[in-house]
Amino acid sequence: MDARNTVTLSDGPRGLRAAAYLLGKGELVAFPTETVYGLGGDATQDRAVAAIYAAKGRPAHNPLIVHVPDLAAAETLAQVSPDARALAEAFWPGPLTLVLPRRADARLAEAATAGLATVALRAPAHPLARALLQAFGGPIVGPSANPSGAVSPTTAAHVREGLGGRIAAVLDGGACPVGVESTILGFGPEGPVLLRPGGLPTEVIEAALGRPLAGRDEAEGVTAPGQLASHYAPRAALRLDAAAPRPGEAWLGFGPDPAGAQGLNLSPGGDLVEAAANLFAHLRALDAAGAGRIAVAGIPDRDLGRALNDRLRRAAAPRG
Ligand code: TXA
Ligand code: MG
Repeated sequence: MDARNTVTLSDGPRGLRAAAYLLGKGELVAFPTETVYGLGGDATQDRAVAAIYAAKGRPAHNPLIVHVPDLAAAETLAQVSPDARALAEAFWPGPLTLVLPRRADARLAEAATAGLATVALRAPAHPLARALLQAFGGPIVGPSANPSGAVSPTTAAHVREGLGGRIAAVLDGGACPVGVESTILGFGPEGPVLLRPGGLPTEVIEAALGRPLAGRDEAEGVTAPGQLASHYAPRAALRLDAAAPRPGEAWLGFGPDPAGAQGLNLSPGGDLVEAAANLFAHLRALDAAGAGRIAVAGIPDRDLGRALNDRLRRAAAPRG
């Protein structure tokens, strides 16, 4: 397909109607969420789910997140434990994904969960995502709308760069306010387990729970197939925790820049929320400017900084 065959839909009622109609026909429509753009497909249609794996070049063993409007819809698809219910009540709609036992009678394409006994569910907060879920009237699978392994999109233009010509449409809602993907929690024998740090800081979750979250290796029987080492990767190589750029390196700063640094800054004032919103767009911009190597300033490993450091470590990992 020609890249021009991907239609850009505006955020009014007509765009929403068109998006819902296309989803119903089994077509793929990218849509904005508060975290990143998702590649939407009808979660109940095998054909639509298969098309998502094909469009992204995603390995078939890596399951998708299913987007729902609310807890009631989640309960038709998964068994929601009291712990999970409390978290959903506290943080949905919002950037939190819960991995829960899939109900036997869940109306979901088998491939949406890649054959696992669990399903990842999230109720997004973005008004357009919510309007699309309402207009469509069913669950929508939505991995990040980028080719597998590449940097996640935070604008409709990013989606077109990566997937233009491979998907029917993109619903344009401007830039995503959070900028990094949702926090993913699983549930082990000891309670909630952090599978992926993300847009909802772990500190906020722990404060609500009144206890620390278990880390991934401490939990038995909880797996996150998508936690691949190399991911979110720009073309350029990355050098992390840099004090200053070396000759030939582009600079991605955080806080005050060192003398002579040429490049971009995630947040000159050292604000982690601003840095998260800028991360993926800045990596793309440095790539587009032809940087062969990017030196990245150190970022504090707290609040949204944990998600930023997680994405940067994966972006810097050897490519597989
Ligand atoms: O913010 C987000 O979460 C965005 C927006 C679009 O909602 N979506 C997103 O999807 O980041 P994706 O597919 O790029 O990442 C989903 C992650 C993958 O690492 C996948 O392996 C994991 O969720 N996942 C999905 N289902 C799972 C399951 N049943 N058990 C464990 N991990 C699961
Ligand atoms: Mg992704």
